[in-house]
Amino acid sequence: MLWDTPSPPPSDDGRGEGSCQYGWVVERLPKIVEEDDFVVRVWQPEDAEMLHEAVVESTEHLRPWHDWIAQEPLTISQRRALIEEWQRSWEHGEAVPMGVFQAGVVVGGSGYVNRKEHSVEIGYWTRAGHLRKGHASHAARLLTSAAFTVPEISHVEIHHDKANEASARIPRRLGYRLVKETPQAITAPGQMSIACLWIFTRQDLGDPSSVKHPANGLT
Ligand SMILES: CC(C)(COP(=O)(O)OP(=O)(O)OC[C@H]1O[C@@H](n2cnc3c(N)ncnc32)[C@H](O)[C@@H]1OP(=O)(O)O)[C@@H](O)C(=O)NCCC(=O)NCCS
Repeated sequence: MLWDTPSPPPSDDGRGEGSCQYGWVVERLPKIVEEDDFVVRVWQPEDAEMLHEAVVESTEHLRPWHDWIAQEPLTISQRRALIEEWQRSWEHGEAVPMGVFQAGVVVGGSGYVNRKEHSVEIGYWTRAGHLRKGHASHAARLLTSAAFTVPEISHVEIHHDKANEASARIPRRLGYRLVKETPQAITAPGQMSIACLWIFTRQDLGDPSSVKHPANGLT
């Protein structure tokens, strides 16, 4: 461990009896964040064809890092059903895959995956043909900033396997801190079984003039 993850602030989490786990976060996390023609939003069933094309084009570059690629190829109707399942996931406080669009074109996926009591984790992938144009960084920056609109969120996490150097560049670029490296089971073929955990805390928002501040543009 490099240093400890900050303790969550003590508070009543506002979950009513019978509400789903961390439902309080779900209700208030944004379903869409945008900046000019760059949009990160929850997938809709009518996006199934666009998502399908993006995944089909990207399968081989995603395979080393994402376990879900092992389920591919899906049909378009299976993908539509999956999007409907993701919509239900949102309602139940589970992972929320989101589409990343530039000028209406799918350039990748991102979203809030794993929600904990006082934090959320951001995930991302970029479509083949749209790599190294800053899209994953842009999506992660917008989602990081948007997560802090929920007052109970104390920090945002990014996790990746240590072998995934491209993925590591994104939290580093955004001013996240690497806090932990832990052994993990290999779930995708490119992994070396060491999980890296990066965090960006609400306190890190303290310097709004920083170019790394997620509310600002990247230089
Ligand atoms: C990781 C990934 C999402 C990066 O997407 P991207 O849109 O190309 O990333 P960006 O353009 O925002 O670049 C972010 C940084 O990564 C660097 N980078 C991108 N691809 C890289 C590569 N193959 N090797 C080394 N660095 C790379 C960029 O140069 C940039 O670094 P900088 O800030 O120092 O200039 C993309 O490579 C991908 O989809 N990989 C497969 C899926 C995956 O690994 N997802 C994450 C799982 S944890």
